[in-house]
Amino acid sequence: MSGGQTIAVEVTDIAQITPLIKHFTLARVGGGALPAFSGGSHIVVVMRGDARVHRNPYSLLSPPYELDTYQIAVRRMEESRGGSHFMHDRLRIGSALEIAHPVNLFPLDKIARKHLLIAGGIGITPMLAQLEDLHGGAIPYELHYSVRAPEHAAFLARLRAREGYRLRVYYDSEGEVIDFEGLLAAQPLGTHVYTCGPAGMINRVVDTARGGGWAGSHIHWEQFSAPPVGDAFEVYLARSKKSVRVPAEQSLLEAIEGAGVEVPYLCRGGVCGFCQTRVLGLDGELLHHDHFLSDADKARCDTIMPCVARARGKQVVLDL
Ligand code: FES
Repeated sequence: MSGGQTIAVEVTDIAQITPLIKHFTLARVGGGALPAFSGGSHIVVVMRGDARVHRNPYSLLSPPYELDTYQIAVRRMEESRGGSHFMHDRLRIGSALEIAHPVNLFPLDKIARKHLLIAGGIGITPMLAQLEDLHGGAIPYELHYSVRAPEHAAFLARLRAREGYRLRVYYDSEGEVIDFEGLLAAQPLGTHVYTCGPAGMINRVVDTARGGGWAGSHIHWEQFSAPPVGDAFEVYLARSKKSVRVPAEQSLLEAIEGAGVEVPYLCRGGVCGFCQTRVLGLDGELLHHDHFLSDADKARCDTIMPCVARARGKQVVLDL
């Protein structure tokens, strides 16, 4: 996937569902079905602002069997490069957007004997579509959903109506916490665990499962990093013979795309590895921020994920 393959859509509905989250419904311009997807998929939304283009990944939360529209939810991020502000402040019903085709980096495992879903905050979104895939099926599942306070519990009415006894909600404001050790230890053999939400929660789930002897193939998480803001820096694209300045609030990938150079991507969140790029020269420091490279890879400083990486120093030369 790269910036060239997109679908023209328009916003057909917007709802403020918590103080920080808006729910958007998108339909193909001119009508017609959108591409099929499975629970856990995301799309990249292309937002063309006055001065720059934002491309942000958002999980599809609509039922995978309803393809006349897609639904996404966007949390307003205060420390943001501008994409969430664009979605919250600039979009109206009828606004035009482009989206990339859905990609699933967080699929349900087809041979699991039980699915254990653990969500924190906006991390509920990929699980809403996964639940649609699970609902009515023969494989048992349960959802544990942790939120700051009742007013931040997005989609709770829908979840309560659909999931009933399979749903357990935890409010931080009332001192309710998930007992990760007890929950994971109580699962039958063959269970797969899925988690999405704040980094601290994902790390707890993954570490607890690994510590409890769970097979790595049974532990699934989705942790897209929002590309961080940081100091401006410059890179030189050796094959394109272009110098590119990366402003404080733009990602390296966006800046490269803005210079007319295409880089393959799927997640734009430091997870998939598709944008991996060789570093040919470095006088300074790389700030990796991805979840794909190993610590040893990062220490070698000979490759980066431009969707989330930044740099400090005098010069970075990339093989682009
Ligand atoms: S696009 Fe997935 S790691 Fe950069």
